[in-house]
Amino acid sequence: MRKPMMAGNWKMNKTIDEAVELATAIRDQVADEESVDRVLCPTFVCLPAVRAVLDGGSIGLGAQNMHWAESGAYTGEISPAMLEGLVEYVIIGHSERRQYFAETDETVNKKIKAALAHGLIPIVCVGESLEQNQAGETQSFVSGQVKAALAGLTGDQVQSLIIAYEPIWAIGTGLAATAKQAQEICGSVVRAAIAADFGQDVAENTRVLYGGSTKDKNIREIMQQPDIDGALIGGAALQPDNYSAMVRITAEVYG
Ligand code: PGA
Repeated sequence: MRKPMMAGNWKMNKTIDEAVELATAIRDQVADEESVDRVLCPTFVCLPAVRAVLDGGSIGLGAQNMHWAESGAYTGEISPAMLEGLVEYVIIGHSERRQYFAETDETVNKKIKAALAHGLIPIVCVGESLEQNQAGETQSFVSGQVKAALAGLTGDQVQSLIIAYEPIWAIGTGLAATAKQAQEICGSVVRAAIAADFGQDVAENTRVLYGGSTKDKNIREIMQQPDIDGALIGGAALQPDNYSAMVRITAEVYG
């Protein structure tokens, strides 16, 4: 049985004071919802302050990115060693990073390996553009991204990480994939790609999230899909009531 997860990707939002306020509001609402893995991913500069808000509780903390090297002359970057002990999770290969910061399948693969070597749980993002979707390339493109991301890993490593299927056309647009579409790609494409390279058991054990315009109003139907184990949430994760409702609805669906 895969444990559901509601992970909030705060992106480049919130000052340190605002992040503390948001994390506190969320903590006060969902601290006890332990049947759902709750994860908050603020910016790097906010991580220590949000860590302090979450300390002693069961809400997880994640970074939004990291470099793969241990240390060195990489101005502006953050290494896995710096995140170890501070966060449990790290988002890797978000489409915004691929699109605006030249991340490739190859760098995503390096980052995943570095994160695992430091005991961090990667939340690996994949997803097609609108053009690819309209050209009928979704299945082959997303399958290729999954395989490239996981190349060289062991089955145990794969089932310890999390894949987030986020169609780019659904991110921040208010136009979520239908639950049926999301189920189709999470199951017949993402989980199938894992099964092809690592076997059916590993595919069944790996958590697959959907992301793209999820909110309290559409999360129930999404969470009712058999191959969707949670959501990576952008905009709605900045609204404590909305995010907390999503956690509670997920708990109900799995209850
Ligand atoms: P959104 O973002 O929920 O605002 O669409 C999701 C994401 O980019 O992770």
